[in-house]
Amino acid sequence: VQVQTVALLLSRVTWAQNPRKRLAPPKTPKAQCCDEVRSLKVQVANLTSILEELGRKQESDLMNVVRQIMELDQQNRQQEARVTEAESKYSEINNRVEIMQLQTLQSATQTSSDATYDCASLFTKSYKISGEYKLPKDEFLGTPELSVFCDMETNGGGWTVIQRRKIGLTSFHRDWKQYKSGFGSIRGDFWLGNDHIFRLTRQPSVLRIELEDWEGETRYAEYGFFTVSNELNSYKLFLANYSGNAGDSLRYHNNTNFSTINKDNDKCVDHCASLRKGGYWYNCCTDSNLNGVFYRYGEHTKSTDGITWYGWHGPNYSLKRVEMKVRPVGFQP
Ligand SMILES: *[C@@H]1O[C@H](CO)[C@@H](O)[C@H](O)[C@H]1NC(C)=O
Ligand SMILES: *[C@@H]1O[C@H](CO)[C@@H](O)[C@H](O)[C@H]1NC(C)=O
Ligand SMILES: *[C@@H]1O[C@H](CO)[C@@H](O)[C@H](O)[C@H]1NC(C)=O
Ligand SMILES: *[C@@H]1O[C@H](CO)[C@@H](O)[C@H](O)[C@H]1NC(C)=O
Ligand SMILES: *[C@@H]1O[C@H](CO)[C@@H](O)[C@H](O)[C@H]1NC(C)=O
Repeated sequence: VQVQTVALLLSRVTWAQNPRKRLAPPKTPKAQCCDEVRSLKVQVANLTSILEELGRKQESDLMNVVRQIMELDQQNRQQEARVTEAESKYSEINNRVEIMQLQTLQSATQTSSDATYDCASLFTKSYKISGEYKLPKDEFLGTPELSVFCDMETNGGGWTVIQRRKIGLTSFHRDWKQYKSGFGSIRGDFWLGNDHIFRLTRQPSVLRIELEDWEGETRYAEYGFFTVSNELNSYKLFLANYSGNAGDSLRYHNNTNFSTINKDNDKCVDHCASLRKGGYWYNCCTDSNLNGVFYRYGEHTKSTDGITWYGWHGPNYSLKRVEMKVRPVGFQP
């Protein structure tokens, strides 16, 4: 309808223009001329305003279309994200199902001689997928049922993860009892528990520490021998035979007792667990502080109580991600 109106007005304009030329001779009365010009001007004004209106409408139509396309695009992206999430959930469930199937199969054929003690024994029983496993209670070994996270990929697999920092919502400024039995979530940030670490390292064990900084670079430190004492001996740390590219920043903590906020066993007049806000084998105080405070990018260089590893980033750089894991000495993938 609007296009027709414009066409009509246009035809009127051309009609009006032509007669004006035809009516150009000087004998034309002045009044007539001026009336014509006035009416022409009105028509032109009319036309301009209609054109403007049309333009505005077209523009808003176009905007609407663009908005619709953008909405569709966003819906599409949301759908995509949902699909990705579903896919990862699916693969995780798939992993769990596979693990459960294997576990059923194993328990049917299990004998007392091949007790499941850690992730390494699971690996030798052909559990090769990284994930959460339940270690069964074992009267003979004196171990309770325990949920663990097994790393079955890194450097041959068979690793039982004893500590992880990556999300940063779990506080590690905890007391003796909590460090004794463990805390956090096995798929997120956690400390497995000093009693469990003691039991796991009664067999000669290797400790592997993996670190990641906020630039995404990774380093590791491995100790060919690692063990902690029992609670009576304050979970004293013993390690030997460092290798890796992160620096030997746990050596300083060798032969020291474990300390927490409510149990000061460090070799210092300062109360290191309070100063460094974690539970650790504090000496006087740290050359590393893997159970320190999680600081996010931007805040990670401002404090000395962060998740530090002096041998790599010094005392004022809090790392983005840490994993500590153990497996028996001489483990063969
Ligand atoms: C167009 O001009 C007529 C007079 O010729 C007037 O009555 C009408 O209101 C005008 N319309 C617009 C949209 O300006
Ligand atoms: C350290 O490594 C050496 C050489 O492999 C080995 O002889 C020694 O027993 C290791 N030390 C410990 C405490 O395992
Ligand atoms: C470590 O703990 C043991 C017993 O729990 C104690 O005898 C020893 O003196 C402690 N060492 C230090 C340095 O505090
Ligand atoms: C830790 O101390 C013991 C002695 O108690 C020593 O044999 C071992 O080499 C030390 N470990 C490191 C990494 O220096
Ligand atoms: C670390 O930070 C402290 C203050 O928080 C400062 O005194 C010290 O010089 C810093 N050290 C380095 C190596 O940047």
